[in-house]
Amino acid sequence: MTDVGATLEAIRRHLGVAGVITAADRIEALLVDERRLYRGRAALVVQPADTAEVAAVVRLCAAAGIGIVPQGGNTGYCGGATPDASGTQILLSLTRMRRIRALDPVGFTLVAEAGAVLAEVQQAAAAQDLLFPLSMGSEGSCRIGGNVATNAGGLAVLRYGMMRDLVLGLEVVLPDGTVLDLLRCLRKDNTGYDLKQLFIGAEGTLGIVTAVALKLFPRPRARCTALLAVRDLDAVSTLLASARRDSGDTVTAFEYLSGSALALLGEQVPDVRAPFADAHAHLVLIELSSSAPGAALDTVVEQLCTTHGELVADAVVARSDAQTHALWRLRELIPEAEKRAGGSIKHDVSVPIADLATLCVRAEAAVRALLPQARLSVYGHVGDGNVHFNVLAPPLWAGGDFRARWSEPVGAAVHACAAALGGSFSAEHGVGQLKRAELLRHEPAAAIALMRALKRSIDPQGIMNPGKVVDP
Ligand code: FAD
Ligand code: MLT
Ligand code: ZN
Repeated sequence: MTDVGATLEAIRRHLGVAGVITAADRIEALLVDERRLYRGRAALVVQPADTAEVAAVVRLCAAAGIGIVPQGGNTGYCGGATPDASGTQILLSLTRMRRIRALDPVGFTLVAEAGAVLAEVQQAAAAQDLLFPLSMGSEGSCRIGGNVATNAGGLAVLRYGMMRDLVLGLEVVLPDGTVLDLLRCLRKDNTGYDLKQLFIGAEGTLGIVTAVALKLFPRPRARCTALLAVRDLDAVSTLLASARRDSGDTVTAFEYLSGSALALLGEQVPDVRAPFADAHAHLVLIELSSSAPGAALDTVVEQLCTTHGELVADAVVARSDAQTHALWRLRELIPEAEKRAGGSIKHDVSVPIADLATLCVRAEAAVRALLPQARLSVYGHVGDGNVHFNVLAPPLWAGGDFRARWSEPVGAAVHACAAALGGSFSAEHGVGQLKRAELLRHEPAAAIALMRALKRSIDPQGIMNPGKVVDP
């Protein structure tokens, strides 16, 4: 095996000054995760300019057995993009590779490099009067390669699917430095195993995504956003099913906001308030959209509220772009409010939609049995059966040391509630280093064995994002 010091020097030489990050403040920002749960160290922090440079770095690391941690926007919630504390791994940032390589307005496809910011991809599509629908609160910072690696979800999954559903092709650098070119823009392609799917949601443990071919959609020309105050959690599922059946396939988003999450928002971001005179315990943000100009979507929402008058306590339909924006801020700023309040234990659980109410009732009882004074912040993508059942950090834990607390009963109790209903402990945020024990606890042994076999076969040396998701 090649000498480590000589390898690091060879990488520096190969990438040149622009390809190696040396400024201490920049390095510090990249070595701490979004939630400040993990602080890593790195032997070297590199930012290659193109796929050939990524492949060269990986080849050199493979020869010396050096671990590589890929990083996009560093907005992930599970510590997946943070190296360990040994200082022996290389952090490889994709942020310099942000070109939109191609956009086909006839085939409705776009090819972007992995470091393109999600919002830039959305804007590139919009500039051609098209839509790239992946959307989430972090879209101004997260990168499209990170979205692939985490199989990101977000606010429009109900209509357009998760990242996995939006990817047509990938370019990936494998752990031995080979460039695997699967960057096709084909809608139909049954040529053997669908290998690109292996890398989607693998969180950088099987290879480095360097470019992505994406599906685009017609840009909506009519949109209606409304906030409904609803009777209870069962009403949420009833309204969702009704809206989906009767709206001509126009439901784009169906987001739940609990009164407790909105109360927190009001405290932490005082200029943002729900437009109702009374406080409500359960609210739904619904958005309908259509590519048909002039589609009467507000009539659809009004009809929904009339048909289910006994379930809807109050409703506001946005009548302008400013009002639409204001309603969305209510939803999108909740994570920021949690951060300002000192952080939260985030639970990213999913269950069959009909069981959402049961999940929330049971999870609250389970949390209160352990932490009677717990303050909850519950919200999420209920249209996908996905709830963020978050528990605010008790003042006692100030300082943000949730990692030490994670394995304590709170997370396990909430995850057990989801599992008992056939649900998942990680709907969209992934596993990273935070939820590795949960993966072992909840996934069937045969599934873990298969994951390990895949990891060993694609990355026999175990150099690709070591210590994340599953051990070889
Ligand atoms: P990073 O954090 O840099 O990396 C995440 C993982 O992917 C790591 O394991 C890393 O090693 C790997 N990785 C990154 N780039 C590559 C690559 N090119 N090749 C191989 N592996 C790579 N997530 C949702 O799903 N839905 C939401 O609604 C949502 N809302 C959010 C709101 C806020 C305010 C914040 C801060 C985060 C939110 N997230 C959400 C989480 C996060 O933004 C997503 O997981 C996002 O996809 C991560 O992208 P990133 O570029 O920041 O990846
Ligand atoms: C969201 O939906 O806002 C995020 O996925 C959850 C979070 O930020 O806690
Ligand atoms: Zn989410």
